[in-house]
Amino acid sequence: MKITAAITGVGGYVPDYVLTNQELEQLVDTTDEWITTRTGIKERRILKGKDQGSSVMGIKAVQQLLEKTNTRPEEVDLLICATVTPDVLFPATANIISNGCGITKAFSYDMNAACSSFLFALTTGAQFIQSGLYKKVVIVGADKMSAIVDYTDRSNCIIFGDGAAAVLLEPNLEGYGVLDQVLCTDGSGEQFLHQKAGGSRRPPTAETIANREHFIYQEGATVFKFAVKNMADVAAQVMARQHLSHDDIAWLVPHQANKRIIDATANRMGVGPEKVMLNIQRYGNTTSATIPLCLWDFEKQLHKGDNLILAAFGGGFTWGAMHVKWAYNS
Ligand code: UT7
Repeated sequence: MKITAAITGVGGYVPDYVLTNQELEQLVDTTDEWITTRTGIKERRILKGKDQGSSVMGIKAVQQLLEKTNTRPEEVDLLICATVTPDVLFPATANIISNGCGITKAFSYDMNAACSSFLFALTTGAQFIQSGLYKKVVIVGADKMSAIVDYTDRSNCIIFGDGAAAVLLEPNLEGYGVLDQVLCTDGSGEQFLHQKAGGSRRPPTAETIANREHFIYQEGATVFKFAVKNMADVAAQVMARQHLSHDDIAWLVPHQANKRIIDATANRMGVGPEKVMLNIQRYGNTTSATIPLCLWDFEKQLHKGDNLILAAFGGGFTWGAMHVKWAYNS
């Protein structure tokens, strides 16, 4: 009997502070109307306070997940944290989250594939279940994008927000869970979306800080074009491989970067807006957390047996799509 990796619970956390389009109008030369029509975003959450990293949100999301699924921390075999904004370059934020949640018997590590981090981490975690090696794997996406956003750059600061969400993967013998995925990387896309300094190539100096090189650099229009084509392509590819028509799909769960990219992907798949998970208007782009935050928000509307297509595109470039058969009713 084939073992599949089923998602058996979702936990999430978003910080209390709401950064509205109106507040951004005070910071940069923009308007609520421009942001809403160009991106679909109305507000995003921001993690405030001294010495608060992505792990603060990740811990809260995982704690909720463990509680909801009646999982004891010591039962967890593996925890992978998807993030582009680790608390520090090392140790891994996954270790900090595990420690904060009392997960003492698992090994843990971070996965960075920019906005595709969660999909890449979910695929990796699923392999440990499918192989029969592990019984409980936690995948948490946690990003404090406000730490690397330049609030003087109007084309970028309007997009991003902070948040975290996590799923539990467990073995299933009835064909539910992660069933297929197409994941892609094209390193030549680096130039269009990256952080110029802060790593080993250009460690932080007074000069890199003065030049604002620790913030996100993005050529938005170029990234937009690649995102529209590639996210739609892989979603269509997974549907074809799995012999799924648009009628068979219950939900598209897209990375929330821009509503126009999401609409284009849904159109290509032939699914209507009623089947698209959308929360970009409230959270903006939380990078590794967008897809699990959608599952968290929409969990009550999901039914056992629903076919979900998860899809993402991000820096790297990285992109991918996945077919998940939902395993439970809430
Ligand atoms: O999640 C990781 C992957 N990232 C993405 O998927 C993001 C993809 N890109 C995007 O979502 C969009 O490109 C942005 C939202 C970043 C920008 O939207 P756009 O429609 O591509 O705008 P643009 O960069 O082509 O700029 C169009 C105009 C420019 O003015 P001019 O040169 O035509 O006079 C910009 O200066 O819009 C201007 N602009 C703004 N105006 C008001 C850019 N940002 C703003 C703003 N408010 N916040």
